[in-house]
Amino acid sequence: MTNMEIIRYYGGDILDSPGLSREKTLMQHGDMSVYDHSLLVTERCVAFARARHAKVDMRSLVRGALLHDYFLYDWHEDDDSHRLHGFTHPIRALRNAKRDFEINKIEEDMISCHMFPLNLRVPRTTEGRILCFVDKVCATYETAKGFAAVMRRRVSSWS
Ligand SMILES: [Fe+2]
Ligand SMILES: [Fe+2]
Repeated sequence: MTNMEIIRYYGGDILDSPGLSREKTLMQHGDMSVYDHSLLVTERCVAFARARHAKVDMRSLVRGALLHDYFLYDWHEDDDSHRLHGFTHPIRALRNAKRDFEINKIEEDMISCHMFPLNLRVPRTTEGRILCFVDKVCATYETAKGFAAVMRRRVSSWS
């Protein structure tokens, strides 16, 4: 099975849900939507676990990763409630995920702890630790890529 087939198998209902569709309209880092970021992070989590033969619950790994940024608002909007986004969005994502899906203890750990060490909730599961690491690698890459695009546009505007 390919990584994407595994993601569809365990998380098809999440991918087809109205909440994930909404994520397509919300931007995350650079020019990437929250949906694209969540899918990329999930695919990389699956790849990481498979390459290392990590002992994980693959269903939980997929579902927790798909829902880790399920906060469902545009954090770039100038709104007081978004000011502490980096610290508070895991709890908001968990609340929304529990409202819309059945969430188990592993998925709860993944979603609520993925911003460690920015917030001080340490992931206690292997799935949570994989997500925490992979999310940071992806976010750094996406932000740098977005930054590079902005810089390229600026330089080309000079000539
Ligand atoms: Fe996040
Ligand atoms: Fe993320």
